[in-house]
Formats: sequence, C-alpha cells, structure tokens
Amino acid sequence: MMFERSQELFERAQNSLAGGVGAQVRSFSLPTPIYFERGDGSKIYDVDGNEYIDYLLAYGPLILGHCPGPVVEAVRAQIDAATLFGAPHETAIQLAEKLVEIVPCYDLVRFNNSGSEAVQAIQRLARGFTGKPKILKFEGHYHGWYDNIYISHLPEALSMIGLENAPWPVLGTAGQPESVLQDIVVLGWNDLEIVEKTLKAHGHEIAAIITGTIWRSSRRRSKPMATRSPLSSPSRS
Ligand SMILES: Cc1ncc(COP(=O)(O)O)c(C=O)c1O
Repeated sequence: MMFERSQELFERAQNSLAGGVGAQVRSFSLPTPIYFERGDGSKIYDVDGNEYIDYLLAYGPLILGHCPGPVVEAVRAQIDAATLFGAPHETAIQLAEKLVEIVPCYDLVRFNNSGSEAVQAIQRLARGFTGKPKILKFEGHYHGWYDNIYISHLPEALSMIGLENAPWPVLGTAGQPESVLQDIVVLGWNDLEIVEKTLKAHGHEIAAIITGTIWRSSRRRSKPMATRSPLSSPSRS
C-alpha cells in the first residue's frame, strides 16, 4: 500500500493542526496517520486511493455505514430548516424518545459532543448520586483525554507502572495536576478477585467503576490483547 499523500498531509498538518491530527489517539497509526476523503457504505477510501472496510464507523455513530440514503436526505432537509440552535429543539426530543424506546437500559438521555465529555458527565453523576469521591478504572483503558481520567492508559515505560496486581496510577501527559490522582483507583485488568477486595476495603469511597469491555493496551506484554472483562459477563449484570 502507498501512503505518500497521507505522509504529505501529515507533514503539512503539523504546521497548523496540533499534533497533525484531530485527536492524539489518531497519531499512532503506522506508517503515518492515514487521511481519508470518502466513504461509501461499509468502505472508506484514503487520499492515496487505498480502500478499507470501515470497522471503526466513527466509533459508533455511523452504525448504518457511510452516506445511507435516508440519513443523507434527513440531514439535507434539516440543513434547509436551520443549521444549529443554541437552544432546545424538538428533534432532540424525538431522538431521545427513540433511544429510550430501543435501548433497554436507557431511562433518560443527555447528548454530549464527545466521548471525553460524556465520561465527565457520568463521573459527576456518579459522584453526585453516591456522595463518594473516587472512580475505579483499569490500567490500559482509555476514557478520553481529560485530566481526571487520562490516567494509566499507556505510560511511557514499564518502570513507571508498578506491579501487575498493584499498578501505580500514572498521569497521561505533562500538564495534568497530580491532585487528580487522589480521586482515582487504578486496578490491573481482568482480576475479579482484586476488584472484589478493593470494593470491600474502599467501597465506601468509590462512586463508580468505569471499564471498557475488552483490554486495549498497556506496557505489560504478558497480557493477551483482547481479554473480555468478567465485569461484562451477563451473569454479573
Ligand atoms: C471508551 C472510550 N471512551 C472515551 C473516548 C473519548 O472519546 P472522544 O475522542 O470522542 O473524546 C474514547 C475514544 O476513543 C473511547 O474509546
């Protein structure tokens, strides 16, 4: 595969776009971040003409694939009516009603602009509801780039992360205040016994557990790449 045009765009982008990409997690693609220009159904095409099956689907919202006719028509009709309101509108209610109807665990909906922002909302909700200060997260899981949660995702070196069964919480980048570490508990992935012990000892101060459904990344090479969480087992829900 050729990535010449993507490489050129990456070089150009670094003069105006921080890090050369729209989000830092996108800068890790090899051999260069790949820049896309077109999508059609399940396929996407990069600026060098390479074709891919799009398993990412913009992290979820493109569940119907790229440019499905009814969605494109609905978006065009809405754009003719108004481009954006900084105020309530009926379409938000219609979408919330539809989500509550089709997703069994949804009672109420709050829309957010990004995953990072949604994670802030759920942390505040959990702390406000329980009156407890801490969030429990797992090493290697990514929940957005904000100060209080971009912790122990992919620390730079093994020497920074402590033992597998007692990892140290590690800030993700320079500029995050150390004080956020007081309100986070980090555990290794896929060890239910440690989760149970931690909840017994510290449950009185843990407002919520946040987890992905599979283990994503870590410096610890011994782990299999995609282990399913015992926490996501239907028998425990
Ligand atoms: C599980 C999870 N939470 C949060 C985020 C952050 O989302 P965003 O990039 O929209 O801020 C991501 C992004 O990859 C994610 O995978």
